[in-house]
Amino acid sequence: MIDLRSDTFTRPTKEMRRAMAEAEVGDDVWGEDPTVRELEEETAALLGREAALYVTSGHMANQLGLWVSTHSGEEVWAHENHHLIGDEQGAATVISRVLPKLYSGDPFPSRELLDRWITGLGDVHRADPALVWLENTFSGQVIPLAEQKRVTDFAHAHGLKAHLDGARLWNAAAHLGVEPARVAEGFDTVSVCFSKGLGAPVGSALVGDADTVRRARRGRKLLGGGMRQAGIIAAGALYALRHHRERLPKDHARAARLADQVDALPNLSAVARTNMVLVTTPEGAADRYVAAFAQEGLRVLGGGDRIRMVVSLEVTESDVEDAAKAVARAVARL
Ligand SMILES: Cc1ncc(COP(=O)(O)O)c(C=O)c1O
Repeated sequence: MIDLRSDTFTRPTKEMRRAMAEAEVGDDVWGEDPTVRELEEETAALLGREAALYVTSGHMANQLGLWVSTHSGEEVWAHENHHLIGDEQGAATVISRVLPKLYSGDPFPSRELLDRWITGLGDVHRADPALVWLENTFSGQVIPLAEQKRVTDFAHAHGLKAHLDGARLWNAAAHLGVEPARVAEGFDTVSVCFSKGLGAPVGSALVGDADTVRRARRGRKLLGGGMRQAGIIAAGALYALRHHRERLPKDHARAARLADQVDALPNLSAVARTNMVLVTTPEGAADRYVAAFAQEGLRVLGGGDRIRMVVSLEVTESDVEDAAKAVARAVARL
């Protein structure tokens, strides 16, 4: 069975497991785990920030990013399809108790929208805006750095903070051919994941200035996210950070090849965005296609008229060829 459901399904490699087995550890709640500290220092440096905090998940990194930059009742501006909105159980309204103000369409707010939303700032009827949220990559799509800069500049000019959900920032940097710090530029906080395209078994990080990360560290403990000898899992993340970033363009090239082959089939259209292939099926038919692919030995996720296929560490060149053949056989049967 070829599994293209998500890049979160990758399992640690032999070398990564060895690094984890041999990791030096201590009690991280007391700041005494040398491997966690090394991971945090290296992550902060790569993203051009003073400090980083290792956390269990991208979800937690995002929620802490929100928590350190808002007060309850304030507005956070986000896209309706951001992970923060649709995939974190509404935690933004439970933990930070903020009011999400949503836009749709393009994965970044237009100048006109920002101007409209900032108008009436200070009006007694209105919640105070506090934070602008972006996601890069966004369903695999790379947000141009110029658009990010426009949004973060706007936020700062009006006293707002800016957060980047960079769960797949590493893929964005690889696609653009820039250092990760360039993609993180201009944001007050950035969350990144080690457990997606990089293939680590556990963990994410939140980066920012030293005081912000100090407050996030308190927030992590508040939420019960303090971990003891976390160096065991941090070693996997550190290995992934050091050894798996440079191979990401391979995933992107494989996704592009798969998209070309799927796009050539009747009734389907497909585009590759970094490591993701987004397939459009006839209206409402995605479930039937997903089931047919599974019968041909290919697992994917989909619904409505959309199917997503994700290429990552364990997906080889020949898996991509086999996946394309499985799709072709399924299409011929449907
Ligand atoms: C864009 C984005 N942000 C955040 C997350 C959350 O990461 P985690 O699954 O580690 O909580 C995901 C997970 O897929 C994601 O795709």
